[in-house]
Amino acid sequence: MSRNPEWLDNAVFYEIYPQSFKDTNGDGIGDFKGITEKLDYIKELGCNAVWLNPCFESPFGDAGYDVSDYYKAAPRYGTNEDLKQLFDECHKRGMHILLDLVPGHTSVEHKWFKESMKAGKNEFTDRYVWTDSIWEEPQGMGCIRGISDRDGSCAVNFFSHQPALNYGFYKCERPWQQPMDAEGPKATLEALKDVMRFWLGLGCDGFRVDMAGSLVKNDPEGKGTIKLWQNVREFLDKEFPKAAMVSEWGEPDKSIPGGFHMDFLLHFGPSHYNDLFRCDEPFFSHRGKGDAYEFVKRYNECREKSQNKGLMCIPSGNHDMDRLARSIEGINLKIAFAFLLSMPGAPFIYYGDEIGMRYVEGLDSVEGGYGRTGSRSPMQWDKTTNAGFSSAPRDRLYIKMDESADRPDAESQMNDKDSLRSEVKRLIGIRNAHKALQTRGEINFVYAEKNEYPLAYLRGCDDEWILVILNPADREVNFECRLTPVEKIYSIGGDISCNDGRITVPPRFAGFYEI
Ligand code: GLC
Ligand code: CA
Repeated sequence: MSRNPEWLDNAVFYEIYPQSFKDTNGDGIGDFKGITEKLDYIKELGCNAVWLNPCFESPFGDAGYDVSDYYKAAPRYGTNEDLKQLFDECHKRGMHILLDLVPGHTSVEHKWFKESMKAGKNEFTDRYVWTDSIWEEPQGMGCIRGISDRDGSCAVNFFSHQPALNYGFYKCERPWQQPMDAEGPKATLEALKDVMRFWLGLGCDGFRVDMAGSLVKNDPEGKGTIKLWQNVREFLDKEFPKAAMVSEWGEPDKSIPGGFHMDFLLHFGPSHYNDLFRCDEPFFSHRGKGDAYEFVKRYNECREKSQNKGLMCIPSGNHDMDRLARSIEGINLKIAFAFLLSMPGAPFIYYGDEIGMRYVEGLDSVEGGYGRTGSRSPMQWDKTTNAGFSSAPRDRLYIKMDESADRPDAESQMNDKDSLRSEVKRLIGIRNAHKALQTRGEINFVYAEKNEYPLAYLRGCDDEWILVILNPADREVNFECRLTPVEKIYSIGGDISCNDGRITVPPRFAGFYEI
């Protein structure tokens, strides 16, 4: 496997949901020009990389994760030229940008799918996973059936309007199931590489890959899918060695051997990420009834299994989960960010999380969002109309805003040194100033006991070692620690005291200490 692109070593990502970031032409929906306009905001926060959610032509039945043309920017966001300009403007600022690649499925409106629905054999007949009779459904996959002249049922990959592209089956059990090295699956993979080639050629810096673990079917251990991504890795090493790849897989022990540089720990899969932020009693809640032990255990296992080669990224949230501020509040949000920004792997901040944007309750589903819609509301920039997101009349906004009178906004928080945003900016600054805290530094957990607080770990690089202590709980706690903190780099919520091999930690506290 190739070494990570160097820029990942100190990358801090900002995830942008294009429809909700900034509207520049008053049609009520965000656009590329709006993102370009706000790059300085992102840079000022300290982020130096962007992940842009899907921005390709689509009927938007799943917010753009249902692509109808991989080669064309969605007109509502702008043109390919505008997107290229966004790449260029990122680069001018020393920033990088990842697009969202959706390799597992397309929209039913994609021309490949329309061709594959035809009764007569053609170039796209094997582009998707079809059974060979309308009366047979692909088991356990869900399907589209009865809308094509073709006699067969087409497997779906997510919603029932997202037909599954055919990369083959690891184990073939039915006559219509094709092995990975059959012509159809091979052609699909080449088509995917062409798409990647196109956007990398235009200047994007890599991809966040949607449902990366889902490609090869009947592959419970992921062996086929790993092999497939290794093939992609070879192609990238040859043609685009600087391209960065991050997977939505949630199993670094598979994605990293597959050739991804980074994988997310997520709200699904075995990572215990939810234990920290999104469950009845999250570890980072002030109630102090949570547990970080299982998370740490799994984290260490994954590091071992992936031989510490790739990066595990812990996002503040994303467009699929509840806003962080739905379950964590006040100073605890700052403590959560002290964790997110002091862990190895590249941090990912979901737009608006830096100001504590809230989950908007009670919204009707928009573009296949369902319960996710409340986490996708327009960015709140300032105190002007529509919080500075758009000049459209309020009822023309493609998705409703947080209408609460005290909704947070970026401008106010930039002018307040005690705001969450100022804290996040401070924390990114500290991360940037200390290699030990960055992406590749070592981590050793010092204290992570079942149902106990605090959480403490050592980060290190070369001869710099930093002890991180986090106590989200509303009560003073102490723990045994033979290390001697010598210099404080950062703290919020008071200070620790050390006595006789024990460290006492105040309630609702985060601190970083050189040892
Ligand atoms: C991923 C995306 C999600 C989408 C799904 C189907 O999980 O993050 O938003 O709905 O894949 O593409
Ligand atoms: Ca617009």
